[in-house]
Order: sequence, then C-alpha cells, then structure tokens
Amino acid sequence: MSLERLDKVLASTGRWSRREVRNLIREGRVLVDGLLPAGAEEKVEPETACITVDGENLGYRRYTYILLNKPAGLLSATEDTRQRTVLDLLPPEFRRIGLFPVGRLDKDTRGLLLLTNDGALAHSLLSPKRHVDKVYEAWLSAPADAEDVAAFASGISLGDTRCLPAGLEIGTDPVHVFVTLHEGKFHQIKRMFISRGKTVLSLRRIAMGTLQLDTCLSEGEYRYLSEQEIAELNTIKQK
Ligand code: URA
Repeated sequence: MSLERLDKVLASTGRWSRREVRNLIREGRVLVDGLLPAGAEEKVEPETACITVDGENLGYRRYTYILLNKPAGLLSATEDTRQRTVLDLLPPEFRRIGLFPVGRLDKDTRGLLLLTNDGALAHSLLSPKRHVDKVYEAWLSAPADAEDVAAFASGISLGDTRCLPAGLEIGTDPVHVFVTLHEGKFHQIKRMFISRGKTVLSLRRIAMGTLQLDTCLSEGEYRYLSEQEIAELNTIKQK
C-alpha cells in the first residue's frame, strides 16, 4: 500500500487531464472518504480510500487489463504515423493511461490481444525464459499431416534459428489446425508452415497463457479482464 497525491490518482484513470482534475478538486466535486480534501496534493491510499467525483465512486485500479478481439488490418502498436493501430479501437483515455499491447500479432492476424499498462506482467508474459503458451487457430492452403505434426514437435528450423518444439493439432478438416507455441518469433507460424510447403491463409490467436479468447467478443470488441483472469495471469509472473 502506498500513499499518492490525489490529483495524480484521479489523472491516472485517464478520464481527466491534470488541469481538469485540479478544477474538479477546487470546485469541491471530489470527496475522499466522504470529506472534502485539503487540496490536490492531499495524500491518499488509492486502493482503500473511497474517492468520489460528483458522488460517483472513482473505481480506482492501479493497472488496467483489456482483452481485445483484434480484427485484421490493424497494427499491434500504440501509434503509427500512417496506419491504424489497435489503440484506435479503444477510447482515448486508454492511450492516456499508457495502455500497450502485450506482444505483437501480425497486421493480418486476428484474435486475442491483451493490452495493459502493467509493465511487470507484460514483461513476464513475453519473457523468453517463461515459455508462455500461445495457441493459434490457422487455415492452410493444403492439408496438414502426421509428418507436419512430427516436424513441429521436434522443432522447425527457420534459416539460422531453430524453433522450440511446438504443438500441432489437426482439426476434422485437415486444413484447419491448432498450433501451440512457447515463444514468439517474427511471423513464426507462417514461416513454420512455409518450411513445410504450406501457406497460412488465415490466423487467429485463441489463447495466451491462462487467458482465452472470449467467444462473446466480436472482432474489434474489447472488455476488461475479470479479477480471476488477472489473478491467473499473475501466477505466471510468480513462477
Ligand atoms: N505467427 C505468425 O506468423 N503471425 C502472428 O501474428 C503470430 C504468430
């Protein structure tokens, strides 16, 4: 638990600029535990204090965690001078609080993308040492077979690097497959299949660590992670 300045806590929600926050406090619209604060610099314990603005609970969270069902056609980045990024799908306050995508999906890859401003969690999920599983669903130009499964399991060679063993599960239609990676190399699945003489026609991520793509989310939609999902992801951080 740590004490923080009231204006900083309010601004960290991304809902108001620093100046707007100072005005809210000056106008007496902010209460801390039911009392008017002494000023913008008053120190509060943001996770336990009851902070209200115009009578509404602030609902403070130190970090924000968003699950986005990424559509094709957007970059997994916070900004780009020419192309649209996944942040363009979210309200502007998410940019203000420093949300960023945890890892990258190719522009044409769809599916699960976690966005957060929790740098430590992002770091653990992406750390090559932790080998966090990522599961993808792919549609191929030609049927996958048992030899592909064996090649993926023994580690595909991509030019000068060798991939870690990966899971390949063939669906009822053999052009529809599920790939489990424990690492994240550039265009990895597409390149793994190219090395097997097959092209990935469509790619969608459906899981990352303990987090699953929510089938209720249409492409382009997002939601906050539940407390349980956050707790489960944090177990990866502690490993
Ligand atoms: N592998 C790819 O080829 N592309 C992605 O976006 C993710 C994994």
